[in-house]
Amino acid sequence: MNRVFIKTYGCQMNERDSEAVAAMLRARGYRIVADEADCDILLLNTCSVRDAAEQKAIGKAGYLQKRKKKNPDFILGILGCMAQNRGAELLEKLPDLDLIIGTQKFHQVPGYLDNLRAARAAGVPVGETIVDIAEEAGSQNTIRDHVLMQDADAGAEAPPQVSAFVSIQQGCNMDCAFCIVPKTRGDERSRPMDEIVAECRALAERGVREITLLGQIVTSYGRRDYVHTDGVSPFVQLLDRVHALGGIERIRFTSPHPRGFKDDLVEAYGRLPKLCGYVHLPMQSGSNRILRAMNRPYTRERYREIVDALRAVRPDMYFSTDIIVGFPGETEEDFAQTRELFEAVNYDMAYIFKYSVRTGTPAATMADQVSEAVKESRNQALLDVLERNSVRRNATLLGHVEEVLVDGPDKTGRRFTGRTRGNRVAVFEANSRLIGQLVPLKIDRATPSTLYGELVLIGVESPESRVQSRTLSASVPRL
Ligand code: SAH
Ligand code: F3S
Repeated sequence: MNRVFIKTYGCQMNERDSEAVAAMLRARGYRIVADEADCDILLLNTCSVRDAAEQKAIGKAGYLQKRKKKNPDFILGILGCMAQNRGAELLEKLPDLDLIIGTQKFHQVPGYLDNLRAARAAGVPVGETIVDIAEEAGSQNTIRDHVLMQDADAGAEAPPQVSAFVSIQQGCNMDCAFCIVPKTRGDERSRPMDEIVAECRALAERGVREITLLGQIVTSYGRRDYVHTDGVSPFVQLLDRVHALGGIERIRFTSPHPRGFKDDLVEAYGRLPKLCGYVHLPMQSGSNRILRAMNRPYTRERYREIVDALRAVRPDMYFSTDIIVGFPGETEEDFAQTRELFEAVNYDMAYIFKYSVRTGTPAATMADQVSEAVKESRNQALLDVLERNSVRRNATLLGHVEEVLVDGPDKTGRRFTGRTRGNRVAVFEANSRLIGQLVPLKIDRATPSTLYGELVLIGVESPESRVQSRTLSASVPRL
């Protein structure tokens, strides 16, 4: 009765929260299972950022209620953003839920499950749904436990985990007019810098080579808790400290805000080789009029300046972005501006969203909502540009050697996957001893989303050759 399956919707922050819940549950004697059919307790960790994400989770929970009807001991819970956003109102559609737990209460999940199971074991009739979506001071510090792959039920033979997410900050105070996150995640709260650095050090000791620092607005990290020193923001101070840790080879972060790209951060890309040359820089719109309506505090000109400054420091910088098409009032002229900036920046990756009405946000009640058909065609127009960019960028990689961090076997189990510093997925033949190593890969083929190539290691065992091997990572040139 203690087998738990957690299904996660949404962003990397949610993935990280699920990981922490799993770690806490394991510490209490629960088993985390990989197959939904095998569980006694099913937790949906949800997303509210667009309506489609909420509908998906509601549909899934509705379906799972049938399982509850057959087996009254089955426990079903909704965690995270949608729980926070909708609270007890979810019971109108989903009356059989056992738990509704908000974003500041993940650490309470084990306790609530213990209570539910004890009540069931004692034969107490199923009571009211537990709803806990209150704010809790200090809750940002509770997301720190990691369940790494090698610790999980996969067993001792599981390959070591190479990349880990580290939560540094939660919540957002920017109040973009379209965004539900300030409601679902609350006020900006940062974790103490020493704790984050200690966590990264511990991960490095367990074999992690790549750290992704996570938060809703990471560039604002620590702005209320630490002072700037010599013009260096607390966020850049944190980057410096993580960079100094032995064992960590790559540092990434998400999500930043353009406002956070002052000189100190741009310069950090010149100083810190472990900082991967891939920047996610959410543009949202290329029209100054729409940016103002969105309450985004920058102009298209300032945005372009940031891109140019970063490219000046790292000419091969990769860029990705978030764009919303069809924000209320967006005219053809506004969209043309977005498209122009989108083409000019030449993104390697982009997340393009059709504006979705979020009740309770200022944009929900704005005049001139844009039709679905128009949103769709603008969405498609940007996707076409993106595909062309991606093909063009990949073509420049053909025949070149890229540094790849070997992640593990691919889905087929026959080849291996890794990522380049520019965050491109690469697939290649390798040896499991190379997992966690930085290796040079000569790219010989590319699709818009994936690179294929061959390792250029001498004397390393390939599946066919079975040559005696040793792994070479230190000699990899920085690319
Ligand atoms: N900084 C946050 C942003 C969260 S939302 C983070 O990544 O943690 C992620 C993206 O979803 C936003 O950048 C925006 O492009 C998009 N988005 C947010 N609200 C939206 C809405 N109402 N409709 C469509 N897209 C939205
Ligand atoms: Fe949302 Fe804007 Fe913050 S997109 S998460 S309110 S920076």
